[in-house]
Amino acid sequence: MSEVVSKIVRENIRNLQPYQPGKPIEEVEREIGIKGAIKMASNENPLGPSPLAMEAATRAIRDSYLYPDGAAYYLRRDLAEMHGVAPDQLVFGCGCNEVIQLLIGAFCVPGRDQVLSHKYAFISYRLQTLAHGCEYIEADVDEGLGCDVDALLACVTERTKIIFVANPNNPTGGHLDRASLEKLLAGVPNHALIVIDEAYHEYATVADPDYPKSQEYAADRPLLVTLRTFSKIYGLAGMRVGYGICSREVADYLNRLRRPFNVGLVAQEAARAAIADTQHVDNAAQLAKEGIAAFQKAAPELGIVAYPSLGNFVLFDVKRPAVEVYDLLLHQGIITRPMAVWGLPGHLRISVGTHEQNQRAISALKTVLA
Ligand SMILES: Cc1ncc(COP(=O)(O)O)c(C=O)c1O
Repeated sequence: MSEVVSKIVRENIRNLQPYQPGKPIEEVEREIGIKGAIKMASNENPLGPSPLAMEAATRAIRDSYLYPDGAAYYLRRDLAEMHGVAPDQLVFGCGCNEVIQLLIGAFCVPGRDQVLSHKYAFISYRLQTLAHGCEYIEADVDEGLGCDVDALLACVTERTKIIFVANPNNPTGGHLDRASLEKLLAGVPNHALIVIDEAYHEYATVADPDYPKSQEYAADRPLLVTLRTFSKIYGLAGMRVGYGICSREVADYLNRLRRPFNVGLVAQEAARAAIADTQHVDNAAQLAKEGIAAFQKAAPELGIVAYPSLGNFVLFDVKRPAVEVYDLLLHQGIITRPMAVWGLPGHLRISVGTHEQNQRAISALKTVLA
């Protein structure tokens, strides 16, 4: 590698390990020389998008020679109505990954501020904090690898500018119950944003009727931000639409940093139609719940441990280097996610598929773990 470039790049970028996405199906099929591989690696919806979203996207392609509506007027209006908030409380991103980036970019001063989360949290919080030149602090977790609110609050300092908690969390699947969420919200200082990332919210509400929604606590909390995405239950990961629900003030600052036209025209129309198809959302949530139950039932028979999950994925302690299990599963045409990058070398995450895909994954696990 040319030293000329590495000498001038920002030091924090030189030292950054880039995000490693789950392997695409075609790449695995090509590398291993197989057909019919299935991807259970990136927590996508195995049912795909709603047929209504596909029709809307197909119709919208005709207009895609035009720039999209930069303010996402209709999508904003529909979502504001769905959430019972004012339209100017929403901020859109190219996936909620971009909203995470906007939050850090708008609020965190490089070289001074800290971003706080806990161990085994969604990896984007760390990567984007380090890319921005801020310090990332990880609190310890409880025995079940879940967020320990006391430990998290104990890490707050005067330099803490944003606290990220995914509820439920990816990759562990654990969640904050109502009492823990209330304790967290009561304990955060008034100099830090508290961001509750609800990427898997719709799955959680079906899996646990007591799962708490952060927006219930939004009144008089101008520093609370909720993140949502169309990448998970809405089956539109390839469209890249996510958003934040926040106070008008926070939204205004984030919009100053947001690139114009960051959410495409086809994506906006697909997302609008997806919200309207509540049956598709219910079907996906039910499928995920049943899939998680099937994996959890199978785990003891396989001699591995499955963590409870309110998402659409299960984290397993496979009791050996997970990358070996991952490799063997790959050769059976099943793409999963080894968790070493998250600091969990003995853990593997499997996204829930259709009933047939789940059974195929369980049989493959039986073979490779034998
Ligand atoms: C907890 C959590 N937050 C946010 C995201 C980002 O989603 P997207 O950028 O696709 O909206 C993910 C995706 O895996 C996630 O698991």
